[in-house]
Amino acid sequence: MFEKGKLSGKTTWLSPSNIALIKYWGKKDLQLPVNPSLSFTLKKCYTQTSVSYKPSTSGFKYEFYFEDKLKPEFKKKLDLFFKRTIEHLPYLNQLSIKINSKNTFPHSSGIASSASAFSALSLCLTDIEKSIIDSEDFYNKSSFVSRLGSGSACRSIFGPASLWGSSSLVENSNDNYAIPFDLPEFFKNYHDTILIVDEKSKSVSSSVGHDLVKNHQFKESRIKQANKNLENLIISIKNEDINEFIRIVENEALTLHAMMMTSNPSFILMKPNTVNIINKIWSFRNEKNTSLSFTLDAGANIHLLYHQDDFKTVQDFIKSQLLIYCSNGKYIDDKVGKGPIKK
Ligand code: DP6
Repeated sequence: MFEKGKLSGKTTWLSPSNIALIKYWGKKDLQLPVNPSLSFTLKKCYTQTSVSYKPSTSGFKYEFYFEDKLKPEFKKKLDLFFKRTIEHLPYLNQLSIKINSKNTFPHSSGIASSASAFSALSLCLTDIEKSIIDSEDFYNKSSFVSRLGSGSACRSIFGPASLWGSSSLVENSNDNYAIPFDLPEFFKNYHDTILIVDEKSKSVSSSVGHDLVKNHQFKESRIKQANKNLENLIISIKNEDINEFIRIVENEALTLHAMMMTSNPSFILMKPNTVNIINKIWSFRNEKNTSLSFTLDAGANIHLLYHQDDFKTVQDFIKSQLLIYCSNGKYIDDKVGKGPIKK
């Protein structure tokens, strides 16, 4: 089985975070989404992961280091990930691996790192497999493996945008792994400035939130809405219809949080300053013709999406009117990127 390559070596991948425009919220079976989601892949917020490997005589073994320090607090998540993935990466049973990871974004920024972390690790694991045995569909398999770590991670494998989940609108779309979604040049020049409203980790995890969708009173209408929003978003992207793009992106963000507020038990992840920023953005748009829209992930932080041509206007707006709502005035400038890179 292992004729092709030798059983020791090292591989390193850089894999970015992503921001969903159509939100994945609710899952079924083993990490499969109840509705399709579409995201922009980011550029500057990424995880760099190295995996070094050598033969093991006593089965699969791993050690996880974050910024060169052993991190036992990640053990539970990683144990679950390897439990789910080892049958798809059977070569691991003969290896002992050492994982070393670091992020370009601060640990305490309230930015979810699971998408970049699991995609970077999965790319390394699939890459090792490729060096030992011939394997096809490298990126699809990496996305599949990433999904078993964290759903949104499977979209980080592709840039500039990525679609995960079966949709009759997009050929080859499926629930098992994400596929690349190409963008017109206009949207490739989009920025994402992340306003850090709250640096603390969130009070309710995404996994708990996904679980509450199972018995949610609005589950069926949410699934319908996500599919309709996806259809309209794809048309708006193709036609470069900015107003329609803004309408759908903001509707998705607010629906995500409305689902949280109406689940049983309900919870709120927005903070007062999240709402203050949204109101400022809406007044700004009433005054100025701008591409600026916002989206939210499962937390209090706000992602500002806008075209390169509006960079100066939006940056002035952020600095003069929005930074007062950010925790310690913190924000991160990112933009749409091309996807993971092997180092
Ligand atoms: C609100 O991918 O973090 O960011 O599969 O349980 O790891 P798990 O959940 P996760 O959920 C992300 C939810 C979201 C929307 C999105 O990214 O599509």
